[in-house]
Amino acid sequence: MLGLQHGQPEHAPVPARDRRRALVTGAAGFIGSRLVEVLLGTGHEVVGLDNFSTYYEPSVKRANIAASLDDPRFSMVTDDLATVALDPLLDGVQMVFHLAGQPGVRSSWGAGFSTYVRQNLVATQRLLEALACRPIPTVAASTSAVYGENDGRPLTEDAPLRPVSPYGMTKAAAEQLIDVYRRDRGVPVVCLRYFTVFGPRQRPDMAFQRFVDALECERPLHIFGSGHQSRDFTYVDDAVAATIAALGAPSPVYNVGGGAPASVNEAVALLQQLSGKQGRVVHDESARGEVYRTWADTTRLRSDVGWQPRTSLADGLAAQVAEYRRQRDFDKVAI
Ligand SMILES: NC(=O)c1ccc[n+]([C@@H]2O[C@H](COP(=O)([O-])OP(=O)(O)OC[C@H]3O[C@@H](n4cnc5c(N)ncnc54)[C@H](O)[C@@H]3O)[C@@H](O)[C@H]2O)c1
Repeated sequence: MLGLQHGQPEHAPVPARDRRRALVTGAAGFIGSRLVEVLLGTGHEVVGLDNFSTYYEPSVKRANIAASLDDPRFSMVTDDLATVALDPLLDGVQMVFHLAGQPGVRSSWGAGFSTYVRQNLVATQRLLEALACRPIPTVAASTSAVYGENDGRPLTEDAPLRPVSPYGMTKAAAEQLIDVYRRDRGVPVVCLRYFTVFGPRQRPDMAFQRFVDALECERPLHIFGSGHQSRDFTYVDDAVAATIAALGAPSPVYNVGGGAPASVNEAVALLQQLSGKQGRVVHDESARGEVYRTWADTTRLRSDVGWQPRTSLADGLAAQVAEYRRQRDFDKVAI
């Protein structure tokens, strides 16, 4: 466990003797790019790996990582984890954060599935093989989607894994693969099951970013289903703090959830207040593979590393809207 600790001001520099070199896979993504910023901000050196996949517009990913490129302690490698030579990348690295993957439930059905197998399983297996030769403490991104439906109580990590989407299944399989390498080869990987992460630079396919975009651009705001479905929304900086704190933690898997589940309709009402616009709300058919409710029991992460979420849904959404507007104004000037 290193870097951001409970009780320490967030993003405070670590003492010189604790500065490390990190490899972050998926470094240009939503969570990965924020993790890179926080690691650099606390004094670490970072190698970022990303293949700028076309799951969403690569220019969004270039904007995510742009500010970090100016830092001399950061180097960005544009390559594919499923094929890149990993030994040189791992040279001198003392901590690995594996966030590269193909996210999203809806496009994991049908022809899209093979991409999920490649990005979430094949790429992870390559990293595990490389780590088997040099056991570097690693944290890997998993998801609440491994659980499937929730019966109305917070789920502990011991709940059965019954994913209801091909995406959730590939992530559950990746967890099992990690477990095989942990037991057979001693590869020290901790898996984090993130629960719906939100905040500045959220992926454009995710609900809140679509809602903000719809309200700000005065387009219809599309909700899948009734909007009564709820999520244990997790602010991105809380997810990043958990990711750093979990390095070297004793358990193989932890939930990372914001702790105050809210419905999609509640979140939309907050966004309408923040933007000062009601928008035209359209309810579409529910998306296949989405569960009705998610709710994390985070006792294990709290007691093992002292992590706790700090940012409310309202404050996190305010930050997300502010960043959306900042980026839009920046894009206008750049044109
Ligand atoms: N955002 C969430 O709410 C959430 C929730 C649960 C789990 N997760 C998991 O967290 C991780 C990060 O999610 P995110 O929302 O930041 O997604 P993201 O798509 O923004 O980031 C993932 C990054 O990985 C890169 N990538 C994909 N395959 C790669 C490969 N083979 N080689 C190199 N780079 C590759 C992509 O280009 C992308 O930039 C993912 O593994 C995702 O499944 C996210």
